[in-house]
Amino acid sequence: MGVYLQQFLLATCTHAAFTLAAQPQILADTNRDGVVNDLDINAKQTWTDQRGAIFIPNIGDVDQRCSAFDVNGKPLGNRELSICNDASGDTLVAPEYAAPVRTSPLSNLSADATGRIYTLPESAIGRVRIFWNQPGFENKYNSSWRLTDPQFTFNATSIGGGLELAVDATELVTGSTSWDGQVSIVYEITDGNVTSSDSVALQQAPVLFHHHLQGVEAVLTMDANDTTSSQARFVQSIQDILEHIPGGLPLRKLEPVGEPWAQDFMEPGYVSMPGPNGPISIRVLVRSAQSTRISGRKVFKELRGPGVGGHQLGLGSGFGHEEINSGGNIETIPPYTSRSGRHWAQGRIITAKHFDKYPAESMMDFMVAQEAQSPLFLEAGWLAVGHVDEFVQFLPLDNHVGFTIAVGDAMLGLEVLQRAQGDGHGSAIVNSFDGDMTPYPNAIFLDPETRNTTIDSLLSEEDFIQANKYGQSYVQRNLDLLLQEIPLDESEVLRVPVLWRDVTYPWPLTMDGMPPRLHRTIPGERQLVAYMPAAVNGLVLGSDYISAKPWGPLINGQDPFEEAIREVYGRVNMTVHFVDDYMSHHVQGGEVHCGTNSLRDTSIPWWST
Ligand SMILES: *[C@@H]1O[C@H](CO)[C@@H](O)[C@H](O)[C@H]1NC(C)=O
Ligand SMILES: *[C@@H]1O[C@H](CO)[C@@H](O)[C@H](O)[C@H]1NC(C)=O
Ligand SMILES: *[C@@H]1O[C@H](CO)[C@@H](O)[C@H](O)[C@H]1NC(C)=O
Ligand SMILES: *[C@@H]1O[C@H](CO)[C@@H](O)[C@H](O)[C@H]1NC(C)=O
Ligand SMILES: *[C@@H]1O[C@H](CO)[C@@H](O)[C@H](O)[C@H]1NC(C)=O
Ligand SMILES: *[C@@H]1O[C@H](CO)[C@@H](O)[C@H](O)[C@H]1NC(C)=O
Ligand SMILES: *[C@@H]1O[C@H](CO)[C@@H](O)[C@H](O)[C@H]1NC(C)=O
Repeated sequence: MGVYLQQFLLATCTHAAFTLAAQPQILADTNRDGVVNDLDINAKQTWTDQRGAIFIPNIGDVDQRCSAFDVNGKPLGNRELSICNDASGDTLVAPEYAAPVRTSPLSNLSADATGRIYTLPESAIGRVRIFWNQPGFENKYNSSWRLTDPQFTFNATSIGGGLELAVDATELVTGSTSWDGQVSIVYEITDGNVTSSDSVALQQAPVLFHHHLQGVEAVLTMDANDTTSSQARFVQSIQDILEHIPGGLPLRKLEPVGEPWAQDFMEPGYVSMPGPNGPISIRVLVRSAQSTRISGRKVFKELRGPGVGGHQLGLGSGFGHEEINSGGNIETIPPYTSRSGRHWAQGRIITAKHFDKYPAESMMDFMVAQEAQSPLFLEAGWLAVGHVDEFVQFLPLDNHVGFTIAVGDAMLGLEVLQRAQGDGHGSAIVNSFDGDMTPYPNAIFLDPETRNTTIDSLLSEEDFIQANKYGQSYVQRNLDLLLQEIPLDESEVLRVPVLWRDVTYPWPLTMDGMPPRLHRTIPGERQLVAYMPAAVNGLVLGSDYISAKPWGPLINGQDPFEEAIREVYGRVNMTVHFVDDYMSHHVQGGEVHCGTNSLRDTSIPWWST
């Protein structure tokens, strides 16, 4: 008993507390109520999922001071372009995104007592900034926040009065360095020959990718550089729909750069921490691992700004512009508890491999490093482009998990044709697209012959039927994988009619030394694209759904595909809005989802779920 008591005293009163009037105390928002106060005193040195302070990378650009050009007006390289942000200097440009930390006032210090503040582990140095709101100090932004350093010494007056501090991070946790986002801030006081200290644990917020249950704040699309093209009409149609859906939604048109794929050059995410009036967050746009995709530079040139930061992935993979690394190949399952009992409170990323080929390691490492949404791999090598959004999506639904899965179903697509044939409409042309079909260079999947193909002749093409069965088998395989993971019954899955077309092609193995955008599949496999514009590859906006207009056969003036699509989304109370994407996107291998992006709610208290 005596020995135990002695050890207890040693452990709790290290550094001979009796020579100081009070112990140093450093506090952060450990209880996550958005303010720092005495409720944060207990259990603050160990960070757990339930308790512990959070800080975020301050990587927006509040004053829009980051440029895309050097002093000679030449464009910056990818890495130079990405480096600038509010945390890239020594000044606290955006204190609103820094986490509050403070030290308690101290009495009974001698006049020559000193204090210092530093971070542990060593890998936090340079990655975590600590600012002191120094009375009377004025930096070049006319604020009194001053950068501290382990060598910075606080005098007795300052520590006696208590220090007001602000903490932010300069970079994301990426998995490619030793930085894991955990930091202990140590407050150390030396008075005479006695040194005593206290510390508080903080954790940097992970970057979380959005899922479809989160509210939409804006839709993005690539603008057209003229007023007559198919892209211009597409943009106008999207705008009209957004204006008319309940509440309306803004459309942000991105500067044209010669490609229509607003989905693919980045994946939007966010970081957030508790604040006094709800979560404080920064939108984080992760550029796709496609170094030569010019549109990826939009993340920094066009989209970075107040409360919005960008991220350029690390080197070593993602060189060139390979389709497997597009944002369309990254989607997120909404929150669920897996059949094996793991709670994915922020949902879980899905991405697809292409048989033996995996997406860029830089992106995979990044996703894994965030821990919360570690990716699940599907198989999309059976598609020419090969993105998960071509065949699967998640739709909000008021059921036991809060959502359901929708997949493209080729057997249903064939059934729609067979039903029309059975009703005596076998001579109807399958493709009712009535616009200009003039080829253009990127329209690599344009097939004008479909204009004359009747239902009878298409259904008699054995290879067409085989291609659809082949596609269906892979969709089913992917669905089985999802259903092994997500506790949904197969009967709850929505099946959206789709038709596939075989476009297997011996793509060149390299393009001028670069990895090719599309790659050859492995022997024995096919590569498919959607035969007609695919509805499942559309944009989910709450209970509104923007789908490609299928341009199916006209039976008594009606397209039975449109009817079937409205019916299936209607089952989960979603209103379908059809948009013509035939010449703007479909013939280039994508649909509405690929041609748009959505910026969703970032004020998510991920720590409390
Ligand atoms: C400060 O020191 C004085 C004199 O030594 C002592 O009476 C007082 O209790 C101390 N105050 C605190 C808060 O420890
Ligand atoms: C800082 O304050 C000075 C004087 O009040 C003013 O001239 C200057 O423009 C201010 N600078 C900034 C960055 O606000
Ligand atoms: C202690 O530091 C503060 C802030 O830097 C300064 O204003 C004050 O003059 C210093 N006091 C002494 C006694 O040096
Ligand atoms: C610390 O200082 C006190 C008085 O100033 C002295 O009595 C004590 O021996 C010193 N302790 C050490 C370890 O130097
Ligand atoms: C307009 O955009 C297309 C592709 O998006 C490009 O080929 C064309 O050169 C652009 N025209 C002008 C005038 O910028
Ligand atoms: C479709 O058929 C018409 C008439 O039979 C023919 O003139 C036209 O060239 C055909 N179009 C295509 C793309 O095969
Ligand atoms: C669809 O909405 C109706 C009427 O609001 C409601 O009764 C029904 O339960 C909803 N169905 C689903 C699947 O959410």
